[in-house]
Amino acid sequence: MNGDTGKMDNPLLPALCELIKITEETGDVKTFRIRTFSGEKPFAPLPGQLAMISAPGYGEAMFSVTAQGGDWIESSIKRVGVLTEALHDMDEGGVVGVRGPYGNHFPIEALKGKHLLFVGGGIGLAPIRSFIRYALEHRRDYGDLDVLYGSRSRADLVFKEDIFENWPKGMGTHITLDAAEPDWDGHVGFVPNYLLEKAFSPENRVAVICGPPIMIRFCLGNLEQMGFSKENIITTLEMRMKCGIGKCGRCNIGSKYVCLDGPVFSMAELDELPNER
Ligand code: FES
Repeated sequence: MNGDTGKMDNPLLPALCELIKITEETGDVKTFRIRTFSGEKPFAPLPGQLAMISAPGYGEAMFSVTAQGGDWIESSIKRVGVLTEALHDMDEGGVVGVRGPYGNHFPIEALKGKHLLFVGGGIGLAPIRSFIRYALEHRRDYGDLDVLYGSRSRADLVFKEDIFENWPKGMGTHITLDAAEPDWDGHVGFVPNYLLEKAFSPENRVAVICGPPIMIRFCLGNLEQMGFSKENIITTLEMRMKCGIGKCGRCNIGSKYVCLDGPVFSMAELDELPNER
């Protein structure tokens, strides 16, 4: 660590950072806006990259960076265990360690000129939110933008501010809940079925998809039925990232290390790997 500037001389040493804003997304998901104590973002990730975030005394884990601003990054974290419980218990002003970025990124250059269809389920919108934001910030580089997102209930939708207030009308925002609710007049049904109903043309369009494995499996089948090739369906295996640097041996699929070769892969690339996902 470089004195009190928060800069990292050794990339394995975390920068000491402050939680400058905490947003409660759902009953068990919070978004943490993080800045170094010298007022900078800990690093500048590309869409799809991850951060190793630690809570003093509780350990560290890898999380997607879901957004970034001039002097901050954000991660949206679900409460699932000791570390995430400790993070959820923190208040604004709390101290965390951050290092990164880790992993490859969504192919932002190769997809220029394409229509982008983002498909998410539950907290699965978090890893692709950074790409949605990037595409909106570089609007002229891409064709049509659509987000098709679903969750069990309205209360379980993450990024409600983005969905209902921030995302521009020019982007297709297609939200669905698994079951009807008294105060919901939007679409009801599972994400894979809604995808079929919307019947997006595969012409010059790439689908970027993240969510529970069962949702991905059915979406994949439906996208292929709609005419999408596996080269044009991209996902992220970010949940497999542990150490992030090829050391722990906990992320490999056959000869590939998710942390070194991914976590972003096309379905065609994943098809080449042994079926142990
Ligand atoms: S995450 Fe540890 S080896 Fe890949």
